[in-house]
Amino acid sequence: MGKINVLSFEVANLIAAGEVVDRPASVIKELVENSIDAGADRVTVEIQRGGVLFMRVTDNGSGIEPEDLPIAVRRHATSKIREADDLAAIMTLGFRGEALAAICSVSDVRIISKTKNNELGAYIEIHSGRVGAVSERGASDGTTIIVENLFANVPARLKFLKRDLTEAMAVCTVLEKIALSHPEVAFKLISDGTVKLDTSGDGNRRSAIRCVYGKDFAKTMLEIEGEREGVKVSGYITAPSAPRANRNYQNFFINGRYIKTKTGMAAIEQAYTSYIPPEKFPGCVIYIELAPNTVDVNVHPSKLEVKFSNERPVFDAIYHSVRTALAENTERPQINELEGRNPSFISSTKPSAANAFAPIVDRALEPRSPFKQIEIEEASVSLDPPKQEAAENNVPQPQMFEPAFRSPRNFNYLQENEPEPIKAPPQPLPKAEVTTEVQPQTHKNEDFAREATPSDGAFYRLVGEVFNSYILVESGNKMLMIDKHAAHERLIFESLKRSLKDHKPDSQLMALPIEVMLMSSEIALLEEYREKIEGIGFAFTSARNTVYISAIPTAVSVNSAASMFESFADSIKQGSGVDLTADLIFEKALYQASCKAAIKAGRVYPEGYAEWLVREIKANPEVICCPHGRPIAIEITKNTIDHLFKRT
Ligand SMILES: Nc1ncnc2c1ncn2[C@@H]1O[C@H](COP(=O)(O)OP(=O)(O)OP(=O)(O)O)[C@@H](O)[C@H]1O
Ligand SMILES: [Mg+2]
Repeated sequence: MGKINVLSFEVANLIAAGEVVDRPASVIKELVENSIDAGADRVTVEIQRGGVLFMRVTDNGSGIEPEDLPIAVRRHATSKIREADDLAAIMTLGFRGEALAAICSVSDVRIISKTKNNELGAYIEIHSGRVGAVSERGASDGTTIIVENLFANVPARLKFLKRDLTEAMAVCTVLEKIALSHPEVAFKLISDGTVKLDTSGDGNRRSAIRCVYGKDFAKTMLEIEGEREGVKVSGYITAPSAPRANRNYQNFFINGRYIKTKTGMAAIEQAYTSYIPPEKFPGCVIYIELAPNTVDVNVHPSKLEVKFSNERPVFDAIYHSVRTALAENTERPQINELEGRNPSFISSTKPSAANAFAPIVDRALEPRSPFKQIEIEEASVSLDPPKQEAAENNVPQPQMFEPAFRSPRNFNYLQENEPEPIKAPPQPLPKAEVTTEVQPQTHKNEDFAREATPSDGAFYRLVGEVFNSYILVESGNKMLMIDKHAAHERLIFESLKRSLKDHKPDSQLMALPIEVMLMSSEIALLEEYREKIEGIGFAFTSARNTVYISAIPTAVSVNSAASMFESFADSIKQGSGVDLTADLIFEKALYQASCKAAIKAGRVYPEGYAEWLVREIKANPEVICCPHGRPIAIEITKNTIDHLFKRT
């Protein structure tokens, strides 16, 4: 007997629906795109419990004729295309006639719609794919669609939904992207009674960016414009002084449609090469317009990816318009300031493309903001000005460990060997007075970690630093090479973890709060993890797009606080996607944040840093690997070196 079944209409529909609708955010995307296609200039979205329980989208668009209502919810029913040829030139967001049918087959739906020509509106109900009769209803012009009990009839799908807050954030993110792509439409999102997004719909792109990402972010953006072979590019990019910790702020739109494009991403990131540090990302809101027949939007179930008939002009248009904007915006006043300080740094006194290629130097002198301050410090460090000169010019000196010195309570291991503040002359380290036999089989770091007293014979001596990355220490008959970044990262991680575990956060208050610009969805995550973040010593308040940090753990520097918060938001977001426990998610976030807070390899730090680090490691023999699992120190025995020199 044959084994192949032809699936029933209902099962086939459910499978097809799974392609289009996989979570509340995708329902909202489809409904709101329909509203835009219907010419609405006001769209309100309301959700409850992340949309799983209830979603309502109300628009003031063209409406649906009563006789079309039962047709609109059928598969392959669309008013947007008629023939195969129409697929070659799609200018609407929808075209498949799939979305409403998909939503109706996995939830309970009610639609009320009224066109201008009709006195009354029409109403229809659909329960798990079963379409009711159309009846009359009083309504204003436009369409309201209510979706309830999403996936109640598809338990397998329901199981995969995340917590309500995560789903609500995903809805918010979708709506933010749509709002950026259609500044002429006023969007409002209300989640569990709270307004989460409210855009003006005044048609101005910059004001849409302001509504979505906040005014501080909008202020820092540079305008771009360009064209290559019929591909027009316009929009905004983040100034090099305000790079982002991840790609969440990269937005590309093609003919009004939000898409993910590797070509766009590669173009902008290449254009920023040498403008921002490699671990940072540019943000952008880039609108690409091209002839609809040069792009295929019918290649992805949720229409998120497209295929260009020719990628090159798209890449070139983005790359060159971004590059031009960056070169033109190499800010003159900073160069003047630079000239006053140290003319030898300047390669060209005229604003030219050449200046654009020396952004590290330029950025060293930008006005201060929490972000910029970091860069002032980093750049001044990497330029390595003599301490004296730096002080005269009021360049903030790196003060990574200052807080730890001020309050050693949190570092019990420091107490017996109280280090001095970094500004004081570095304390001489114990000298190699006695050399004894060290057991070759002992645990790594252990002999090194033993207190150096002539009586037990162990000793250590800080030899120096190579490549601005590795600290060399002589200890017994071994040489230790310590990765300064990895070691510091681990020490910070351990210290913060201990604060959390012991419920004894040790903080220092900020005279002025540190402002960090973040997306509202990221802030929602930080709020969710507030208890843990406060548990390690931070205090913060949050507004829609900004976090204000009012206290930081003593173990970290002021300048790393902002990037630590970015890192928390980023790693918590990633962790939330893979169903880990909150403790584990936060521990991973703490790894990442400690990495941001640690001193960097390849940079020069004032004398005393290496000594401090060596003392800390010495006091913490259990510290062997950095939180990412890399070793923090490797040892080479004298025997090995002798062997290399063929002495044995
Ligand atoms: N808010 C709305 N206002 C006016 N008409 C609407 C609205 N929502 C849906 N429609 C009508 O219902 C039809 C079916 O909508 P549906 O979203 O299922 O398909 P589509 O938008 O044509 O294509 P796609 O599946 O790609 O979204 C649309 O073509 C449109 O005519
Ligand atoms: Mg549609």
